[in-house]
Amino acid sequence: MTSHSLPVHVAIVMDGNGRWASKRFLPRLAGHHQGVESLKRCAKACDARGIRVLTVFAFSSENWSRPAEEVSGLMDLFAMALGREVSQMHQEGVRMHFVGDRSKLSDRVLREMEQATALTCNNTGLILNICFNYGGRWDIVQAVQSLIAKNLPATEKNLCAMMSLAHVPDPDLVIRTGGEQRISNFLLWQSAYAEFVFSEQLWPDFNEQELDKALQIFAKRQRRFGKISPQLNADGSLPLSS
Ligand code: IPE
Ligand code: IPE
Ligand code: MG
Repeated sequence: MTSHSLPVHVAIVMDGNGRWASKRFLPRLAGHHQGVESLKRCAKACDARGIRVLTVFAFSSENWSRPAEEVSGLMDLFAMALGREVSQMHQEGVRMHFVGDRSKLSDRVLREMEQATALTCNNTGLILNICFNYGGRWDIVQAVQSLIAKNLPATEKNLCAMMSLAHVPDPDLVIRTGGEQRISNFLLWQSAYAEFVFSEQLWPDFNEQELDKALQIFAKRQRRFGKISPQLNADGSLPLSS
């Protein structure tokens, strides 16, 4: 693969945990547990392939509307999985960031997030952004509020700097597992020029092979960013001057 054909930043809507569990006559939460395993595997695989940034959608602003039992199960699982997995992530050189509205999260969840962020902040491997209580609309609104608070003009550049993923380039590739073909309030601003790949696999079943399939589809896409084909380099990349 030429370097441009590998995405720098992959973002994933990890969907299908509930259906994975239902198919096995298991409670939905069992699917979410399996989803954590899938994320660990996927982060390793992305790192091994030279992908620099992985951003995953773990809990949306709208997921609070699920039955209370599932919501509290997800909160517990999140805190527990963080506590359990962070040292391994740290050993693998992963730098963890948490993105989303923290105002409604419990002290326990916030503490785990802060510990994971602090422990891994100097790592130089894969950047893993976990979107938790995240919504694309929330993100745009909080960025606008920051501009107002700082009395800055509402330019595209200023807004970009206030978005919650300002520390990384925009995603090149957005993958959604679970067969649905919608954005569900994920990276509304940042995915402006992302390539989308939809996988039929339920998230717990998403493996290296499926990741490679998505990467192959991505490599075949021609990203034009509003230009026309003859303006691109022979290998399909954008001219450096652009
Ligand atoms: C995605 O899986 C995980 C979260 C939204 C937390 P789902 O729980 O949405 O699984 P399905 O779509 O019901 O199968
Ligand atoms: C999107 O999945 C959110 C996450 C994966 C965290 P949902 O399952 O909540 O999306 P909808 O409701 O089917 O659009
Ligand atoms: Mg779903």
